[in-house]
Amino acid sequence: MNSLINKYNIPGPRYTSYPTVPYWENESFTSEKWQSTVIRAFNESNAEEGISIYIHLPFCENLCTFCACHKRITKQHSVETPYLESVLKEWNLYLELFRQQPTTNNQQPTLKELHLGGGTPTFFSPENLRILLEGIFATVEIAENPEFSFEGHPNNTTKEHLQTLYDLGFRRCSFGVQDYDLKVQKAINRIQPFENVKNVTEWAREIGYKSVSHDLVFGLPHQSWEAMEFTIRKTMELKPDRLAFYSYAHVPWIKGVGQRGFDENDLPSGEEKRKLYENGKKLLEDLGYIEVGMDHFSLESDDLYQSLIHKKLHRNFMGYTSSNTQLMVGLGMSAISDSWYGFAQNEKTVEEYQKRVEEGKIPVFRGHILNEEDLIIRRHILNIMCQLETTFTDKNTFAELPEALEKLKEMQEDGLVELSENFVKITEKGRVFTRNVAMAFDLRMMRKMPETRLFSMTV
Ligand SMILES: C[S@@+](CC[C@H](N)C(=O)[O-])C[C@H]1O[C@@H](n2cnc3c(N)ncnc32)[C@H](O)[C@@H]1O
Ligand code: SF4
Repeated sequence: MNSLINKYNIPGPRYTSYPTVPYWENESFTSEKWQSTVIRAFNESNAEEGISIYIHLPFCENLCTFCACHKRITKQHSVETPYLESVLKEWNLYLELFRQQPTTNNQQPTLKELHLGGGTPTFFSPENLRILLEGIFATVEIAENPEFSFEGHPNNTTKEHLQTLYDLGFRRCSFGVQDYDLKVQKAINRIQPFENVKNVTEWAREIGYKSVSHDLVFGLPHQSWEAMEFTIRKTMELKPDRLAFYSYAHVPWIKGVGQRGFDENDLPSGEEKRKLYENGKKLLEDLGYIEVGMDHFSLESDDLYQSLIHKKLHRNFMGYTSSNTQLMVGLGMSAISDSWYGFAQNEKTVEEYQKRVEEGKIPVFRGHILNEEDLIIRRHILNIMCQLETTFTDKNTFAELPEALEKLKEMQEDGLVELSENFVKITEKGRVFTRNVAMAFDLRMMRKMPETRLFSMTV
């Protein structure tokens, strides 16, 4: 196994999109092209499956020095109202776009999925979150069995947050835990007592949330297997319905994320990190969890596992989701939208984002419109990331992707995949290398390897 790790532990994307962000053709991207793909997706899908909205709420009171999310650190809560006003204005720009269309489908959007991510959504007061959400709900029809979820920080989520969001239709929440070991918590500048996680988890259950998830991260500075095991066993005292078990992405070269406060020598080595994952996975499985896609574990009763067995699992910028809509509108600073035919990202600073919205413009600053080849590859990579297998129809046999076949054959020899004429499936041994298998399809990266370091390591 060591030699496989040495061979395959290379920088690689996490494939929340294909093409991945560094390969977007930003030069030929325009807001007009983006808007026409939004209309197309809206017309094709709204009545049947509905649409998704992702809202990025970027503020956090303290910087966790391991964090790679787009956030703004501030203790000034006066930022809340102007920011939420901009989000509602941005949503109105999309509504105008939907209304302009002389089609039979120009009814109100049907909202199937809504996710509040960050940063820290629970930085905002419950009252302000209510104003934001009621502003959106007044303009949409809510689908049957909607999937509304939010990310909360255990240190600042209150009972009132949970109740307010529950009353607005939220049934899923996730909380950042990372690690309970004090030495690790100090290194990542995130002191977070178990008591806080216990409180928010128990309140959520009392109120009626049907799925509570915890985020754990392996590969953090000073994290030994003892620390990881302690964290998993503490987590089991609360038995969350789902668990994200993220591989720590070390990306200090990305401007603005603020990763610092520890030395690279404090990080577990590639081999130690793989052991954290493998031991962690085994322990979680012994404790009744099932691995779903990459990075996620679920109890059998949870929707995430149910969507896996019913082949409905989907992956987008929100991570894994149990419903699949064609159009996902991302609102807020740095949010990424997805129309299946295109991606677009909003301005990455709060000021720039708000300025563009005030000018009455959809605040996208870069993006990509997919061509035919991208659409085929996107489908395969999505299948690999969600189902760990993909099938080629006659039209798109491996013969059309000879570069992929060559790489997959090598992986077959290494025991990572099973391969037949039109089918590839990741083996148990290959699961830890899921990103590498997806990379075998990534023609854009094969044609032009990145010149500088862009991605975290795959294992
Ligand atoms: C937006 S935060 C969750 C909500 C809230 N801000 C909190 O920290 O509790 C999203 C999650 O991304 C994960 N994350 C952030 N930076 C990461 C990194 N560098 N590598 C792996 N996971 C990371 C953490 O598990 C974190 O809980
Ligand atoms: S982990 Fe959460 S609270 Fe910490 S900086 Fe990142 S987004 Fe903010």
